Amino acid sequence: MKDIGLANITEAAAQSFAGLPDARQRELVQSLVKALHQYAKDVQLTHAEWRAALFFLHKVGDISSDSRSEFSLLSDVMGLSSLVDLLAADPAATPGSVLGPFHTPGSPWLSNPVNLIGANAGQRVLLRARVCDSVGRPLSVANIDFWQNAANGLYWQVDASQPSDNLRCQLKVAADGCFEIATIRAVPYEIPTDGPVWLDLVQPAGRSAWRPAHFHLIVSAPGYRTLVTELFDAEDPYIASDAVFGVREALVGRYQSVAEPETCARLGLPSDTVPVMSVEIRLAPI
Ligand code: BEZ
Ligand code: FE
Repeated sequence: MKDIGLANITEAAAQSFAGLPDARQRELVQSLVKALHQYAKDVQLTHAEWRAALFFLHKVGDISSDSRSEFSLLSDVMGLSSLVDLLAADPAATPGSVLGPFHTPGSPWLSNPVNLIGANAGQRVLLRARVCDSVGRPLSVANIDFWQNAANGLYWQVDASQPSDNLRCQLKVAADGCFEIATIRAVPYEIPTDGPVWLDLVQPAGRSAWRPAHFHLIVSAPGYRTLVTELFDAEDPYIASDAVFGVREALVGRYQSVAEPETCARLGLPSDTVPVMSVEIRLAPI
């Protein structure tokens, strides 16, 4: 018989996973068991609190589906998704930021420079970027996967009024590492507010549901670490209070009004100036 008590239960539970064949998985599971036990001891977790937490996790699972992960949202609002991004960051490269739930693989490949404006309402803007290595040398081969929300705040997947693939594309950079996207200014929007993460956890904390306006990008290049990131609008009212902790200073861009009559004519702008966000994206070597 093994007499299990407060003094040995943590070690016994952690040790019970010693047979996991993969060393990293074993470390992840055993450390998690120890951290959970320490947490329960620190807060002196009661039966009622433990049952309530399990009930909450049931609800998070119940509302999740192939097209909606309430678990991801839980990770986002607890700052865990951003912590994982920060842990993976190379200080010389552009920081990563949350992928979010609205990336669908298979965006149409379009030629660079691209105009995504189509029939979208909203302020017409240009995103001009150069993809470089971590010391600022342009990369001549890199792929961009770009997506953003429409003027009503919604992504095309959740808005039947938008054409499919609205405001998203994949591109190849030019030989000088540059790409240009004519688009509309992204707008702020709220994280989902119809599920347990918002209703039971974030709203009761008096927190905001808003994410500041952003473009999403996945930047990949042979020999470099793929970067999943976002570019934020410095003038957004929620820039200092992102509900999912995704804002980093290096990811905040400011629109500058640039006089370019030909570009404006191409984009159907009534004036000779267009707001341009210019950024350099640096990738870390593998
Ligand atoms: C988004 O960027 O689309 C997003 C990220 C986290 C939670 C909800 C939405
Ligand atoms: Fe987003």
